[in-house]
Amino acid sequence: MEDKKEQTFIAIKPDGVQRGLIGEIIKRFEMKGFKLVAMKMVHASKEHLEKHYEDLKGKPFFPTLIKYMSSGPVVAMVWEGEGVVKTGRVMLGETNPANSKPGTIRGDFCINVSKNIIHGSDSVESAKKEIALWFKDEMVKYDSCAFDWLYQAAVPIPTDQ
Ligand code: RTP
Ligand code: MG
Repeated sequence: MEDKKEQTFIAIKPDGVQRGLIGEIIKRFEMKGFKLVAMKMVHASKEHLEKHYEDLKGKPFFPTLIKYMSSGPVVAMVWEGEGVVKTGRVMLGETNPANSKPGTIRGDFCINVSKNIIHGSDSVESAKKEIALWFKDEMVKYDSCAFDWLYQAAVPIPTDQ
């Protein structure tokens, strides 16, 4: 049974913010049907970003990555819904925009791997870690009126039409 409350951490990186892509990116997740449960704009410290990307600490591009991510504010968000971690990554496209298909966020709005405008958790486990790092008690609880219209099992099929 899929978890309709699965959550992922999405961040619009400093270049996405500066290039005026916040609305476009949020729109794509909203229109897909995912539910926004937390959002803030934050200029993250190098220490915070080193924790966020700690798995990449040994990579040659790590210092450049931390400098890039700390160069301006990011928009940090938590999105919720069935399969949101995997589907979120599909919506983002490949790490390198050159390999990202048109129709994906990186495929449509950026060119180079070092300025790829958006982050998305790569597994449910890393999503949990990232959400805990970026959001403390800032998750909002509310029911979405679209829920029953997004998950068919919850909608009784009318028999008289
Ligand atoms: P992200 O974590 O930001 O969503 O990206 P990702 O999973 O698609 O890729 P990952 O391997 O986690 O890399 C994190 C970010 O590091 C930068 N990067 N630069 N060869 C390079 O110069 C290089 N490779 C990766 C990108 O900003 C990438 O998104
Ligand atoms: Mg990653």
